Amino acid sequence: MAQDDLRQLVDEALVALNQAQDPAALEEARTRTFGKKGRLTLLAKTLGQMDAALRVSFGSALNEAKASLMDAFDTRAQILSQAALAQRLQTETQDITLSVRPQQEGTIHPITQTLDEIIAIFSAMDFTVARGPDIETDWNNFTALNLPPTHPARQMHDTFYMPAQGEMPMVLRTHTSPVQIRTMLGQNPPIRIIAPGRTFRCDYDMTHTPMFHQFEGLVIDESTHMGHLKGCFEDFLRAFFGIEDLPLRFRPSHFPFTEPSAEVDIGCSRKDGALVLGNYGDWLEIGGCGMVHPRVLENCGIDPEKYQGFAFGTGIERLAMLKYGIPDLRTFFEGDVRWLKHYGFSSLDIPNLAMGLV
Ligand code: PHE
Repeated sequence: MAQDDLRQLVDEALVALNQAQDPAALEEARTRTFGKKGRLTLLAKTLGQMDAALRVSFGSALNEAKASLMDAFDTRAQILSQAALAQRLQTETQDITLSVRPQQEGTIHPITQTLDEIIAIFSAMDFTVARGPDIETDWNNFTALNLPPTHPARQMHDTFYMPAQGEMPMVLRTHTSPVQIRTMLGQNPPIRIIAPGRTFRCDYDMTHTPMFHQFEGLVIDESTHMGHLKGCFEDFLRAFFGIEDLPLRFRPSHFPFTEPSAEVDIGCSRKDGALVLGNYGDWLEIGGCGMVHPRVLENCGIDPEKYQGFAFGTGIERLAMLKYGIPDLRTFFEGDVRWLKHYGFSSLDIPNLAMGLV
């Protein structure tokens, strides 16, 4: 009798689970079989009233039926969830041709773009980026860089002076070179940094704005020499302008914080008033550089008998104007949206060396 009940129960449960078309219906059928008041549970309770021999044989039949039914329920559950997924994949469509971005996209300012390009190149050369504040101590901006108190750059018409902090005169930094000082005071050699940022001088015409951008390079270790400086500057400028044979000329010059010092020119042509970069016999100044002056190393607690290195500095606007054909420096900071639309860059075009810089 009980065996018949069991067989019938199994048959009916199999029918019910095969008829279930969704997970909820299947769960219901499962409860009707295995739940507290489920048919299988109730049938198992009758075991207690059976005599010993029957109980053993029916008990094992019951266990077998239970195990195979559970398997069948699990298999069916899997089939149903796969079917549900297939259904979703079929019905949920996405139009990938639809733009997810608003039509009015902003642009990256040419200064930011140029800076990102500079950082990409120097990162590949193992430089890290160092930063310093716009408002500097007179000591970091001048004195530590070996600018004697009488140096013309200190005069009021070049430098924006700020209220002193205690005894220390403060300035809007006139170049990024104070970041050399901050870096050398803050870490031991070897040092290999570039320091980009805003700089300030009292000047305003076609080629000067009171706020502009520079970046500084500084390498200090036990063996770096002028040849490394030339190679480094050359690699950078050629990569930046994408001109493999761009010629460089190092002209002897003077900066108080480097010895020897040089100004760097790149090859160009000015035929018919059009400036074109390349090996054309004419020259254009692009930056200053030199071997770090021993007194500057000393001012930062670095032993000049043991360590040496080079520094260089360049204007970022100048680089951007040359590369992207922007004629007037002042337009960089006028905030004219039409200018930004024209000279700006897509926010998705992040400069990297893998595909070239533009
Ligand atoms: N700080 C210098 C300038 O603003 C440039 C420079 C930097 C020169 C580093 C030599 C070394 O003109």
